Amino acid sequence: MAAISMKNIVKKYGDGFPAVNDVSIDVADGEFIILVGPSGCGKSTLLRMIVGLEDITSGEMRIGDRVVNDLAPRDRNLAMVFQNYALYPHLTVYENIAFPLRLAGEKDDEVDRKVRDASATLELDEHLDRKPGNLSGGQRQRVAMGRAIVRDADAFLFDEPLSNLDAKLRGQMRTEIARLQRRLGITTVYVTHDQTEAMTLGDRVAVLKRGVLQQLATPRELYTQPNNLFVAGFIGSPPMNFLPATVEGDQVSLPFGKVRIPQAKAERVQGRGLLIAGVRPEHFEDADVVGKPGDGSTFRAKVDVVEWLGNESYAYIPFEAPPEVQAQLDQLERDLDGEAMRTQLVVSLDGASRIREGDEAELWIETDQMHLFDPETGENLTLDRKVEDNEQATLEHTATDG
Ligand SMILES: Nc1ncnc2c1ncn2[C@@H]1O[C@H](COP(=O)(O)OP(=O)(O)OP(=O)(O)O)[C@@H](O)[C@H]1O
Ligand SMILES: [Mg+2]
Repeated sequence: MAAISMKNIVKKYGDGFPAVNDVSIDVADGEFIILVGPSGCGKSTLLRMIVGLEDITSGEMRIGDRVVNDLAPRDRNLAMVFQNYALYPHLTVYENIAFPLRLAGEKDDEVDRKVRDASATLELDEHLDRKPGNLSGGQRQRVAMGRAIVRDADAFLFDEPLSNLDAKLRGQMRTEIARLQRRLGITTVYVTHDQTEAMTLGDRVAVLKRGVLQQLATPRELYTQPNNLFVAGFIGSPPMNFLPATVEGDQVSLPFGKVRIPQAKAERVQGRGLLIAGVRPEHFEDADVVGKPGDGSTFRAKVDVVEWLGNESYAYIPFEAPPEVQAQLDQLERDLDGEAMRTQLVVSLDGASRIREGDEAELWIETDQMHLFDPETGENLTLDRKVEDNEQATLEHTATDG
């Protein structure tokens, strides 16, 4: 097993378009890293450069302590599992798993030991004599992984391995891959555009947009501390709400009225004019259900549609956004591959809420969960960690402003 280190990796294809643009990611030995982002953001290209199927235009790729930029794929000792598992239909499961060992000319008893080890781990013992054509999608997936395991590779690389499977099997296989990776402790890089896979499988997740790394963080940090509008909009379903906002003192003016935010947050955005506020649907609630506002604020709004799902419901509340904010949200919608960033608030309400369509409802908002973004750059101006990292800078900034 080995760590993988990518330093300032660039890939330009023939037409000069940077498919991967200055990406640096360090994958620790045994770590499970996810590459995620909309179609065309460079995920597969980056993975293929790790394996050696694609030349690196510039930058340095290391596996363990070797620079592998000019190393042929077969000399990198990595195992790649593709979307279509590429099993040999005429060979048994046993021989499919044994294939790389036979290729390497290993002795029969050595081959047998390794195949049986892998098949026990993957629970394929009773299928060893069968042909791939007679197996389920999940079983075929495991055979493909078995072939990767017996090679004793330094790392596993997956490119959307589950995208051909139906939703139920995808869920099962996701759990199985997670369990297997933990058990084997093998360094893994996994490409997907499915945010559920990204959030549930990875130790850390790298979010890419048009070849540029936007954020590399644990799933929890991505969710609670997104660097910018793109990451905030990409992670989470239904997505984070984005609203026009202006801040004066600790008061934020939203289309529905004013709410109060924590002092520390307010200080970081004083005098910044029009901003974009980001609040996830679950950080709203029916004010009657919450009882007392606590740390949050309440406001009144006319509810357009309510979707009741049993354990919770979603209420939809349209609003108007000024052109600057609208333009940024339209751009975000294009970046996110058409994920709708419409100017309507989506709020998640407790199943017990009595709010109905057409109601002028009183809603509660958990304001310390609110993010404020720069409408031009999309940067999150209210990240918690900025308080620690840039405490001095922030203090100086407020001093000169005052
Ligand atoms: N052989 C190629 N020649 C020229 N451009 C390419 C080539 N392969 C990919 N690209 C371009 O590089 C960019 C990244 O492609 P890549 O396949 O890495 O995207 P991806 O993130 O894997 O997308 P998807 O989710 O659709 O698989 C795209 O804009 C694509 O058009
Ligand atoms: Mg791809």
